[in-house]
Amino acid sequence: MSGGIYGGDEMGALVFDVGHHSFRAGFAGEDCPKTDVPSLIGYIDDPSESNNKMDIDSQYDANANNINSSQRRYIFDTPGIKSPRSHMELTTFLKDGMIDNWDLFEKMLDHIYQKHLNLDASLHPVLFSEASWNARSKREKLCELMFEKYNIPAFFLVKNAVLAAFANGRATGVVLDSGQNQTSAVPVHDGYVIQQAIIQSPLAGDFVTNQCQQYFNDKNIEIVPYCMIASKEIVKEGEPARWTKRANIADNLTKSWRNYMIKETIHDFKASALQVADSAYTKDVAETMPSIHYEFPNGYNMDLTADRFLIPEALFDTTQIKGITSTVMGMSQIVTASIGLCDLEVRSSLHGSVIVTGGNTLISGFTDRLNRDLTTKTPASMRYKLIIPSSTSERRYASWIGGSILASLNSFQQMWVSKQEYEEEGKGQVERKCP
Ligand SMILES: Nc1ncnc2c1ncn2[C@@H]1O[C@H](COP(=O)(O)OP(=O)(O)OP(=O)(O)O)[C@@H](O)[C@H]1O
Ligand SMILES: [Mg+2]
Repeated sequence: MSGGIYGGDEMGALVFDVGHHSFRAGFAGEDCPKTDVPSLIGYIDDPSESNNKMDIDSQYDANANNINSSQRRYIFDTPGIKSPRSHMELTTFLKDGMIDNWDLFEKMLDHIYQKHLNLDASLHPVLFSEASWNARSKREKLCELMFEKYNIPAFFLVKNAVLAAFANGRATGVVLDSGQNQTSAVPVHDGYVIQQAIIQSPLAGDFVTNQCQQYFNDKNIEIVPYCMIASKEIVKEGEPARWTKRANIADNLTKSWRNYMIKETIHDFKASALQVADSAYTKDVAETMPSIHYEFPNGYNMDLTADRFLIPEALFDTTQIKGITSTVMGMSQIVTASIGLCDLEVRSSLHGSVIVTGGNTLISGFTDRLNRDLTTKTPASMRYKLIIPSSTSERRYASWIGGSILASLNSFQQMWVSKQEYEEEGKGQVERKCP
């Protein structure tokens, strides 16, 4: 059997980290991914119908890398999918953190290789991150795809929680990853995931976006993306917006495109206006906090005081979620429940490194509240220690960074599943070699 002959800096191994929000790709040994592409793909059936009126559309076509496949045209990257195009639907290849639509996924990989990395795939080993709950059949299928279609020289798969721990210098710890689609607590011990103690919750970035949307609906605030607006007037705080719609916007914009654009507009609101309270939200306390002023793209503007604390509160206090029927767990509860499912001997080392990662944890005040909740809920003998990368990119790219470090270690080079091994032993090699 031949391992250990591929990889290393001189071979320029690639690291791919796929999430519901974005696909991160780049070279092992570098500090951050070379590219971070939305995991959404646009498609238009019968492109002859997409007779686009909008001028910015043609401007973006040059970098959208549109692929024509008989009747269907595919559109990638932020400018391409954000551009209003008639009949363009947006969709993703992921479901529950795992690759679900392989055709679309291949199209995305083609796009990444051709337009973002611009290299010969057959010369570069690839390390992929995966969800800790990834199915065996999907692991094997990915291995097969990479060797058969892209003809790569070597392949490896690592659980994203292990990589995030690794990026923070830990082989043991609980990784709390709050991304777009879900939040998970994954205990890692000596570089291996303790599978039976993984806890998942739907309370993540999309959930917060929905909470915001609900709030705007209740307040009759209309969310209009920038690209729809031709002009707006300055209005006083709380007054109805006065704006005009772009006249030359494409017809037949789809619901999936509109929803995405609204979500992106709300993303800015989440990042600028929301604040997680230091301790359990109470209206009286929240009202004494300084207010902030926020202006929407259409000119509507408002002061927010208690509400900016109330909206993200449900992440930590699930009783705040309206109409909740099943038991979903809040952020600190996910961590404690996950550790509680592990053997007694490993619990103290897990308490000692709770690694926080994922874009949703960037909401202001998130980590302070998590720290406080975990500290107040536990006896001093089992103190939690939070490991929180300080920079935004380290928080968002922890799994990718962990992959980048791992794939460039000398000691890792013998771990790769080489092409020869794949050819001799088959796709089952991935299950044997990648824990
Ligand atoms: N500064 C910020 N403030 C609030 N939310 C943010 C901020 N930055 C990113 N987010 C949210 O984080 C989410 C994306 O996080 P991340 O990049 O970790 O997701 P992902 O790994 O692609 O998705 P997943 O882990 O669900 O597969 C989005 O919902 C986004 O709105
Ligand atoms: Mg993620």
